[in-house]
Amino acid sequence: MASIPEVKSIDRAELIAAAKQFINEDYRRLKELGFVNRTGEFFPSGVHYPPITMYPPITQEEMFKGYRLPDDGLLDIYIHIPFCHQRCLFCHYPVKLGEQPLEKDLYLAALEKEMDIYMAQLGLDRIKARSILAGGGTPTYLTIPQLKRYFEFFTKRVDLSRITQYNYDVDPNTLIGPEGEERLRIMRDYGVDRLTIGVQALNDRTLANMNRHHSVKEALDSIDASRKYGYQLNIEFIFGYPGQTIDSWIDDIQMAMALDVDEIQMYRLKVDAYGDYQGPVKNIVEKQTLRVPDDEETLIMKKVAIDMLTANNFTENIRRVWSRTRKQFSHYAWNQCCMLYDEIGLGLTAFSSLRDRYVLNTQYFNEYYAMIETGKLPINRGLVRSPEEQKRWSLILPLKNSYVQKKIYRERTGGSVGNDFGAKLERLKEYGFIVEDEHRISSTRLGTFFADEMVQQFYSHDYIPVPRGEFAEGPLNPYNGPDTL
Ligand SMILES: C[S@@+](CC[C@H](N)C(=O)[O-])C[C@H]1O[C@@H](n2cnc3c(N)ncnc32)[C@H](O)[C@@H]1O
Ligand code: SF4
Repeated sequence: MASIPEVKSIDRAELIAAAKQFINEDYRRLKELGFVNRTGEFFPSGVHYPPITMYPPITQEEMFKGYRLPDDGLLDIYIHIPFCHQRCLFCHYPVKLGEQPLEKDLYLAALEKEMDIYMAQLGLDRIKARSILAGGGTPTYLTIPQLKRYFEFFTKRVDLSRITQYNYDVDPNTLIGPEGEERLRIMRDYGVDRLTIGVQALNDRTLANMNRHHSVKEALDSIDASRKYGYQLNIEFIFGYPGQTIDSWIDDIQMAMALDVDEIQMYRLKVDAYGDYQGPVKNIVEKQTLRVPDDEETLIMKKVAIDMLTANNFTENIRRVWSRTRKQFSHYAWNQCCMLYDEIGLGLTAFSSLRDRYVLNTQYFNEYYAMIETGKLPINRGLVRSPEEQKRWSLILPLKNSYVQKKIYRERTGGSVGNDFGAKLERLKEYGFIVEDEHRISSTRLGTFFADEMVQQFYSHDYIPVPRGEFAEGPLNPYNGPDTL
């Protein structure tokens, strides 16, 4: 890798003053216009539309009725391994904690069988992968023999000849020491080429407040170890966490930019569950056992980080992910959310996104095992979208994550984005959120900053995650305004 550019020194007071001005002026104005809800509570959007908790039950027959594989036969694959050493307090995922060797064996056996059931349903001998993402949980939190066993059965069923990226989402602790090195070597041998490492913070007190299973030093060691094996590296951070301050966050970003990594990813803390499981962080926030940054302070953190990254020539290639070259980003996320390609999900809580439908696997281990045992896919909720919802989905996902390609919108819906959403798009242009050319609709800096709120403008009213009364009755209240569909 080329040497890392020197990180520019910053004038902290100036940086914070500029961010505060942005929040005092733009953010408050957007609340008055009804664009952001009054509490500033945040609802991530853009991977799932409609929100996953709003899906009704679905059967395997209903899920596949009328479904046809894409012409090139390529699919992106998500595979989920729900085991972790201990519970991080911000985490809303159902996972089993501790070593649990027997449970992991049981799970791997079920996962192997689930792959067979899925392939039989699709009439495939092997799945032709476009990209792969293995997540969790901690997909590396397996013993070395289990990790090999997993790669063996997975690789036997997946054709990797056309794959463009194979990503593993990992926790730093599983990558260090002799066992970590062994895992890094095995993953590389089986084709993994990108790691997303959950660093979360570069401050030991914040890590302890999060109940992370690693120190700053261990996170840095995991980055060094991974580098030696030639992985593309993406490191993830959370901001707005209880106990964090604007200053500690600025230090984290300053340090992150000096590391030998390709991508820096930043998540705003989500206090309420995404799906069904509520993580412990809500309790900390309610009881205020640590000082909790409010919405304005959290957005100041976001703004200072953006300004620092921009000043150091990073760009946001796909929402939340910053890198120094345009080539580095998650192919899985790009394919699913921007190209709107078909994707299959395997494992507990995994979801599949198949053209005009979306299904979610069960979150309960026992139900997962029992359904697979009887030869059924472990799905429990999902939706075949109506033509109207297909249009909303085809606009919302790419607009949130990068930009809308009019051609792809046409291919996925049969319609024209201008005819379907013209009035609403004009309104958002007027307020400076989007720009349009012959081929694309993209967000401006302002639209990008408020991408979650911006795409809510296109939600069906039934699916807006905040009741109408929580927005000011302004022209940008998502329940108001033109909607041509
Ligand atoms: C699917 S999670 C799995 C991460 C991996 N198991 C780990 O801990 O390193 C991916 C990332 O989402 C982010 N994340 C998880 N829970 C979050 C929450 N409640 N709010 C904001 N970001 C969160 C974290 O940065 C995390 O690394
Ligand atoms: S954040 Fe990651 S390591 Fe922590 S409990 Fe959740 S899935 Fe496991």
